[in-house]
Order: sequence, then C-alpha cells, then structure tokens
Amino acid sequence: MEDHPRRHGQQQQSAIGSKLKILLLVISTNIVSIYLFSASSLESAPRIHLWDSEALLRELSSTRHKLSASEKQLADLHRRLSTSNTLLEALLDELGKAHGDKTPPEDLDGWQNVLSGELKLAVGPHKLPLGFTANLGTDELYPTLGSPCRRFQAELTEYMSYEVGKDCPSDDIFAQRLMLKGCEPLPRRRCHPKSPDGYVEPTPFPASLWTIPPDTSIVWDAYSCKNYSCLVHRGKAKGSYDCKDCFDLNGREKVRWLGDNGNLDFGIDSVLGTKPPGTVRIGLDIGGGTATFAARMRERNITIVTSTMNFDGPFNSFIASRGLVPMHISIAHRLPFFDNTLDIVHSMHVLSNWIPDIVLEFALYDIYRVLRPGGLFWLDHFFCLGTQMNTRYLPIFSSIGFKKLRWNTARKLDRGIEMDEWYMSALLEKPMT
Ligand SMILES: *[C@@H]1O[C@H](CO)[C@@H](O)[C@H](O)[C@H]1NC(C)=O
Ligand SMILES: *[C@@H]1O[C@H](CO)[C@@H](O)[C@H](O)[C@H]1NC(C)=O
Repeated sequence: MEDHPRRHGQQQQSAIGSKLKILLLVISTNIVSIYLFSASSLESAPRIHLWDSEALLRELSSTRHKLSASEKQLADLHRRLSTSNTLLEALLDELGKAHGDKTPPEDLDGWQNVLSGELKLAVGPHKLPLGFTANLGTDELYPTLGSPCRRFQAELTEYMSYEVGKDCPSDDIFAQRLMLKGCEPLPRRRCHPKSPDGYVEPTPFPASLWTIPPDTSIVWDAYSCKNYSCLVHRGKAKGSYDCKDCFDLNGREKVRWLGDNGNLDFGIDSVLGTKPPGTVRIGLDIGGGTATFAARMRERNITIVTSTMNFDGPFNSFIASRGLVPMHISIAHRLPFFDNTLDIVHSMHVLSNWIPDIVLEFALYDIYRVLRPGGLFWLDHFFCLGTQMNTRYLPIFSSIGFKKLRWNTARKLDRGIEMDEWYMSALLEKPMT
C-alpha cells in the first residue's frame, strides 16, 4: 500500500512520456509533409523560353495542369493529415483518461453525459422553473450523490437497474458496500424496498425499548442469521461479528453505562451530572450498535439519534423496533446536523486506530462543529497501542479545542499484556465561549 503512490507517479510519468512521443510524431509528420511539398514545387519549376511563344503556352498549360494536380494532392494530404490528427487526438484523450489526468470540468460533464436511464435521471441536473433560481443560487438542481460514486459506474448502473414503481432488487449488502467504498449518499431510487411478510404493529413504547421484535418485522435476505433468536445467541457462539452480543438485550446490554467504575467505564448519570439538570436533551451516538445507549438516554427523556451500518445484522431495523431513531450513515459521512446544535455526542469502540489520522481529525472537528457551546463529547473506549497513545493521539485530541473533563487510560488485557493494547475513555466539553 505504501508503494502505491510512487507506482502511481511512475505510471503518470510514463503516460506523459508516451504522450510527448506522440506529439513529436504529429509535429514531425507535419514538417515532413510541408518539406516534401515545397521540394516538389521547386523541382517542377517551369523552364520558360521567352523567345518561343508556343512553347511558352505549352509550358503554361502544363504548369496549370501540374498545379491543379498538386492542389488535389495537397487537399488530399490535408484531409489525411486532419484525419490522422483527429485519430491522434482521440488516442491522447483515451491515454489521458486511462491514466487519470483529466481537466475536472470536462470530466464532470463527460461523466454525466454517458449516463442513461434511471441513473441519468437520478443524477441530474434538472432545470428549475423560473422564479426559484434566486433563492437557491442556481438554475439547475443536482440531486445529492457521493462524489466517489463516479468511480463505480458499473455498480451504480446495476444499483439503478429496476422497474420504476415496482420492487427494488434485494441488494442491501451490495448497496452498503457501495456506500462504504465512498459512494455515500447513494442516489435515490423510484422502486419499493422488499416488504417483510406478515408485518405486525410494533411493540408500544416504552416496552419496545427492551423487547426483541418479532422475526416478521424485517426481511432477512441480507443476513446469515434468519431470525432474532439466532442473532441473540451468536453472542455466546464462536465467530467474530461486529457488536456480537448487542442483540441480546438481557445480557451485557442490560448493564451498560449504569455504573461508573471511575476508570474506562463512565456511567450515564455521572456524565449527565457534569451539566445542570435537564440541559442535556438531544444528541448523537456514533456507531451505536443496537442503540442501548439511546434507550438508556430515552429513559432519561433525552433523544439520541444512533448512527449504524448493517454489518452482519439488521441493526437499523432493530433500533427502529425499539422505538429509537437509527441513521444509516458511515463514519466517513459529514454529520448531518447544523453547527452548535447538539448537547451530547457519544461514541464507543468505533473511533480508534484503524481510522487514518487525518480522517480522524476531520471527524473530531465535525463532532466539535455540531456540539453546542458547553456540549459534551463522550469518547468511550478509544482503542490504540501504548506506543501510539501519547505520541500520536494525545496531540490530535488536544489540538481540536475541547476542554478535558475526564481522561482515563487503561490496558486492554484480553489478548495479554505483551500486546500493549490500550483503551482511553474521555469526557470532553466544547468551551462555552
Ligand atoms: C433461527 O434460524 C436458525 C438459522 O439461522 C435456525 O437454525 C433456527 O431453527 C431458527 N429458529 C427459529 C426459532 O426459527
Ligand atoms: C420524562 O418525562 C415525563 C413526561 O414529561 C415525566 O413524567 C418523567 O418523570 C420524565 N422522566 C425523567 C427520568 O426525567
């Protein structure tokens, strides 16, 4: 992977090299043809004998002949040259495309121009009626679409292949993979998602918070488990899954964040206790699994939106069944909240050393952005190596601008002390002024 940028550079260089060669070829072909022409016209210069008028006339008419013949030749050569130039231009264009150097505006239009069918309609642009342009500052509406989508045109075309008004293909996993590759948000579609068979009204609130929903509440196509009993029990079974035991609402989920061990495990009530009563009202849990954090907050009349992907399980549907708000966005997505609005942002086990530093830094600034002054950022169990903690992560976290209310680090011991794996839990506050 580290080798990649260099190789890419070499590729580009060789592309530029071959383009230069072709350009030189074009130029030299032109020069040679000009030379040939001028040479041939010199060679056939008429030898006129002024004393012989008949001969002069003959010479003149023959010269006219030759001249018109060479005019024809010239026109012919011209035509051939311009054809070969067009071909070469096309070739250069192709070469440029293959090697990824493109002039952005042309490329943007180029991308949109080759689309067809539903994808073309979904991507736009669409002309706005007169009179609406002033408010929006544009006369064309571009439906939102993650810019990396352009790199996956074949997949995108497949995603947009369906009959308008009919059922969408069963492609949840395919669609989520596309999102994770950066095509986020996906384009909108004009089809119906598959509906679960035998859907019944959800469990009423507040019982819904701690009730496993009926199996008929979702479509199981995308998952290896085909019922909730399977998902609940996989917590104790072999195999590694994301948020493995999160569907078991009577297991570990039941006690999370209730107590405060003074170390990595902060309690919800001790965190809320750092703010005046009732002032923490709305927030976000990033990568919140089955939303038990949101459930515990809901019991305290606090509304938490839980972002989660459906990794090996119907996390979004399960959260919704509990009567909580799921949000299907990845960690790479800009938080869809306005500046200075949320009272609290929580995240456990998601932000850690797998995220490239610069991506992490952008994410932390984004969290800072959406928090209101005095808002809390509860970073729960940030994972990294001992050697990374002080040299790499402390500087990043310190640079964002948060005030540290709590900061605890401890070894993660389940794989042995020699692994030098650490957790950090922190309670950070966006300054009031
Ligand atoms: C649940 O699904 C598993 C396979 O995923 C199956 O073995 C099991 O019998 C199912 N249980 C019920 C109660 O349907
Ligand atoms: C939540 O709000 C309801 C209705 O306003 C109130 O009756 C209840 O006591 C509140 N619960 C908590 C834990 O504050």
